[in-house]
Amino acid sequence: MQQASPLIEARGVKVYFPVRKGLFGSIAYVRAVDGVSVAIPRGGILTLLGESGCGKTTLGKTIAGLIKPTAGEILYKGKPINRMRKKEYMVYRRSVQIVHQDPYAALNPTKTVFQTLSFPLKRWKIARSRRELREKVIELLETVGLTPPEDFLNKYPHQLSGGQRQRVVIARAISVNPELIVADEPITMIDVSLRLGILDLLLGLREKLGTAYLFITHDFGAARYFTAKGGGVIAVMYLGKVVEMGPAEAVIHDPLHPYTDILIQAVPEPDPDKMRNAKPIKLRSLDIPSPLNPPKGCKFHTRCPYAWERCEKEEPPLVELKPGHSVACWLKLRR
Ligand SMILES: Nc1ncnc2c1ncn2[C@@H]1O[C@H](COP(=O)(O)OP(=O)(O)OP(=O)(O)O)[C@@H](O)[C@H]1O
Ligand SMILES: [Mg+2]
Repeated sequence: MQQASPLIEARGVKVYFPVRKGLFGSIAYVRAVDGVSVAIPRGGILTLLGESGCGKTTLGKTIAGLIKPTAGEILYKGKPINRMRKKEYMVYRRSVQIVHQDPYAALNPTKTVFQTLSFPLKRWKIARSRRELREKVIELLETVGLTPPEDFLNKYPHQLSGGQRQRVVIARAISVNPELIVADEPITMIDVSLRLGILDLLLGLREKLGTAYLFITHDFGAARYFTAKGGGVIAVMYLGKVVEMGPAEAVIHDPLHPYTDILIQAVPEPDPDKMRNAKPIKLRSLDIPSPLNPPKGCKFHTRCPYAWERCEKEEPPLVELKPGHSVACWLKLRR
């Protein structure tokens, strides 16, 4: 049924990048995303959480249609995007907008704020006259909290702070009325004091416009704030795989995977009484294995303090243990 299908779904998505070993060496594959299935409901939030290099950006770009998966498929409202006609495909591409990791690189330094924001409005014929264009750009600037808007129209990116740039990038993303925004580390490059403002802006836009989010972060604190406030789902990624996925509250307060435990422990806690675990979990190794040559079995076994024989040989499937809360860990799956 059309209504029942999620807004966006990734089914068994793999993205392998070919790389040559040495100048004349053989081709090897970086398994950036290695079999991920996730879904984002209309107006919902899915947060991808994991260390640098685990494949978050690659999955986000694949969901936004910027990278073709090596295997698996992306569905928009239940329809595989690779089987869409051009017109349908354009609707999907417009519906999914991306806010890239770096607000400094995301804006053209030679374009004013007005030029940057008018481009998509003209391209998608959202504003048809010059007056309409100006009104729309002003409305967008107000929506993202850049006020008075007249002060920003003729500014170039170098005249803006990191937080203001990110607001312009967000204004550009919402200008075409997307149903999903892929927000890739939207606060990482911004001053700490401005971070909550950006997260609250994104959550406010969801209230106002019903936008769904694929929120990407390596920061557990940001994931907790954004996802719990928005009542969303957190998917914890490790070396191209989802190792745990569930409602924010459940993943935060009742994590099932040892890796999630470790991410939680890495969050500084000012009140020692509030430390969730008295005994810190010690990693077996601090090195993250290469996605060019990931470990066999459970990919986390080389670092997991609880790993046993089975973990080295067999890869655990992602299994739903509690309603909506899944884990891929033999520790939890053995009977
Ligand atoms: N175009 C590419 N060619 C080859 N390897 C790539 C390419 N893009 C990404 N990779 C590799 O794929 C893996 C996943 O990268 P990705 O950028 O998706 O990770 P990430 O989780 O977003 O990391 P970060 O937190 O640093 O942004 C990394 O090992 C990266 O080096
Ligand atoms: Mg990234």
